Amino acid sequence: MLNKKISLVVLISGGGSNLQAIIDAIKSNALNAEIKTVISNQVSATGLDRAARANIDSHVISHKQYPDRQSFDRAMIKIIDPLEPDLIVLAGFMRILGDEFIDHYHHCLINIHPSLLPKYKGLNTHQLAIDNCDKKHGASVHFVSHELDSGPVVIQAEVSVLDADDKNSLAARVLEQEHQIYPIAIQMIAEGRLAFSDQQLRLDGQTLTKPLLWKNNQLSA
Ligand code: GRF
Repeated sequence: MLNKKISLVVLISGGGSNLQAIIDAIKSNALNAEIKTVISNQVSATGLDRAARANIDSHVISHKQYPDRQSFDRAMIKIIDPLEPDLIVLAGFMRILGDEFIDHYHHCLINIHPSLLPKYKGLNTHQLAIDNCDKKHGASVHFVSHELDSGPVVIQAEVSVLDADDKNSLAARVLEQEHQIYPIAIQMIAEGRLAFSDQQLRLDGQTLTKPLLWKNNQLSA
């Protein structure tokens, strides 16, 4: 099995706890990857401190400095392309990306979203799960396509919604799961086990028709 050191560019907007999970997985050799740079659209993102503490190069590209989405996206492409990363990792990146950016990194752009997609695209997912009396909630890692929070889902992690939950307690448990499944998904891509091409998600050479499920610290089909 191929186990190439995969090179990453990680895009963040805030706390960067998923970035930290990726950094920690690299340090513990659970993930064979190198983060070439971290890009934040927010100067105040505390994830930038996490990058600095791990000696990872970072850039702030504030969307406020650009007249439109396209010029903001192009400014990011200008930083990313010379680094020739294998994978662009959206980790709590809170800007909608334009078609040009998504097409440019087609097949190598992944995101983590705090819901069991296709449920609850967009914001406020934890409150929606509570309001709808869902028994299960969770997180999804997916390749990115043109529509918001869409594209083939690779791994989902489920958590039970408890009667006592409010959106914060539920978000915290979902986030713990995010920190587990994101490095796992990236490692599967590094190993060449998982790929998205010709509009198809493939795992070990077979078309993956439904997401892998992470439950009780185990991955199942
Ligand atoms: C996470 O739930 C992520 O899925 C969402 O933003 C939250 C914060 O992530 N998009 P992080 O701590 O900045 O990684």
